[in-house]
Amino acid sequence: MKKHTITVDELACVGCGACAADCPANNMKLNLTKAAPATQDCMMCGHCVAVCPVGAISISGFAEEPVPVPAGEYGPAKTSLDPDALETALRFRRSVRRFSHKDVPKEMIGRIIEAGRLTPTAVNAQGTSYFVIRKHRAELEAEAVKLVGKFLPAAKAAVPKLRGFQVGQNFFFRRAPLVIVVASKDKVSASLQAQSMMTMAEALGLAGFFSGFFTMAVNVSSKIRSRMGMKKKDGKAVTTLVLGWSSVTYRRSAQREEARVKWL
Ligand SMILES: Cc1cc2nc3c(=O)[nH]c(=O)nc-3n(C[C@H](O)[C@H](O)[C@H](O)COP(=O)(O)O)c2cc1C
Repeated sequence: MKKHTITVDELACVGCGACAADCPANNMKLNLTKAAPATQDCMMCGHCVAVCPVGAISISGFAEEPVPVPAGEYGPAKTSLDPDALETALRFRRSVRRFSHKDVPKEMIGRIIEAGRLTPTAVNAQGTSYFVIRKHRAELEAEAVKLVGKFLPAAKAAVPKLRGFQVGQNFFFRRAPLVIVVASKDKVSASLQAQSMMTMAEALGLAGFFSGFFTMAVNVSSKIRSRMGMKKKDGKAVTTLVLGWSSVTYRRSAQREEARVKWL
């Protein structure tokens, strides 16, 4: 993470202790009547900035300023998300592997990445990289197709569910116009970010699927990684979103097994 510094404006601070009470790392202390960070070596989650009633705390070094929460509209206990609409969206979404030829506008790609960026990461590390593949899609797919020919026979032998898979030149991306590889050293955080991205893509009217196969190809092939400009600091490919405009209509929901839940 970049260098950040927490500053408390002592004239503005009213010493209410809200920051100290909310800091998850017990880093904000109340020195008599003024708040101060015990150390600058903290995860910079910004709870102190967000909770301060008088805007006395700031953190330098971010590319953006904190945005005031619109009055009475949003926040942890108030949401604009409709639970019925969300459940309906989850129930009727499908992995889509058939796409029209239409491209995905750049503004939409920006919004999809923004959904990933806004998603929380463990210790606020934000160590995720996004590789947007459009122009070099065909050559990267061709490289992955070459590779899969080598390991698919063994994979088919080991996993009977894979036996029906046919590896043609569109095996990985299914002619989708947009592919985004999400890479990180932290698998869980990046997976959560990727799911937010998929949800945003679906909210924008797009459709697609996660490609475990291409993710595997990226992690196996140094040639693909180098063509993508992927470096060691990017960690591993965690997942790949393959996205576009659906050319298929599903008329029924997916059947799922019952959730295995233990109430303790
Ligand atoms: C982590 C992950 C990896 C996946 N990898 C692939 C893939 O490489 N190719 C593919 O066609 N579908 C892939 N899928 C899609 C699943 O096969 C699909 O989600 C599952 O069959 C359920 O179908 P549904 O998404 O339509 O409900 C993947 C899904 C997930 C969550």
